[in-house]
Amino acid sequence: MFQLNGKVALITGAGQNVGAGIARALARQGATVVVNDFHADRAQRTTAEIQATGGTARALSFDVSDFDAVTAAIHDITEHEGPVDILVNNAGTGGPLTPLAMAPFARSSAADWQRIFAVNLYGMLNCSRVVLDNMIERRFGRIITIASGAGQTGMNIGVAAYAAAKSGQIGFMRHLAAENAPYGITANTISLGLVLSDASGLPNPTDGIPVGRIGVPEDPAYLAVYLASDEASWTTGQTIGVNGGSLML
Ligand SMILES: NC(=O)c1ccc[n+]([C@@H]2O[C@H](COP(=O)([O-])OP(=O)(O)OC[C@H]3O[C@@H](n4cnc5c(N)ncnc54)[C@H](O)[C@@H]3O)[C@@H](O)[C@H]2O)c1
Repeated sequence: MFQLNGKVALITGAGQNVGAGIARALARQGATVVVNDFHADRAQRTTAEIQATGGTARALSFDVSDFDAVTAAIHDITEHEGPVDILVNNAGTGGPLTPLAMAPFARSSAADWQRIFAVNLYGMLNCSRVVLDNMIERRFGRIITIASGAGQTGMNIGVAAYAAAKSGQIGFMRHLAAENAPYGITANTISLGLVLSDASGLPNPTDGIPVGRIGVPEDPAYLAVYLASDEASWTTGQTIGVNGGSLML
């Protein structure tokens, strides 16, 4: 079940944390994985981890917010690995501050919003648009976007512009799903709670999380494996929370 042998997967922003966990998991299931990250050294690190455990991976550094760069990269993948079967729109940013200490909207600047929208929203639009032509032609595709509970509810932690982008991702993915269901393409959103590779040193880390722990990158990765699989052909247009119960919708 959930084997991905013969499938080509592109995971954006997969140099660390959530994206790296998803890339490792898809590779474990047999996918040929292309590890994108804006930071080439990070993409290379995840790629080396996958290769060290016998998986097939290649690092490909580009900026998802740059449509021409995305187009060139996906053509390169088509030529070397084959057409992209699975796209995971994971690259995201909350702005210049750390995810746990963002500025209230009243102290944010237009430059902050532009980068947040460029990476989270335009990055997703760019990558989704470029992979679609081949997916439609081949009558198969799996598109997964990593959004956030911040896009579904109000939080007093200074993430208003980020929430606008994440909420926009959720809206886009539903329409992508409806438009492309006739072509065997599914489009689903994983809405995350707090996930960290290393949660040590955080004060009261489990406040508000019924399961009693902060998430680790493997938590969303298991769902990504399912959504990427042939078996998930009847699951589309969904926004699925992976958050330890911190947001129950
Ligand atoms: N970690 C969480 O608690 C959490 C919670 C909710 C949602 N999310 C979402 O999950 C996704 C991954 O989050 P994370 O915590 O792993 O982030 P992270 O910041 O740890 O890693 C993101 C990676 O994306 C890369 N990146 C940034 N901009 C890029 C660009 N323009 N092009 C290519 N790569 C780029 C970065 O270099 C970085 O390595 C994001 O979309 C984020 O909004 C994360």
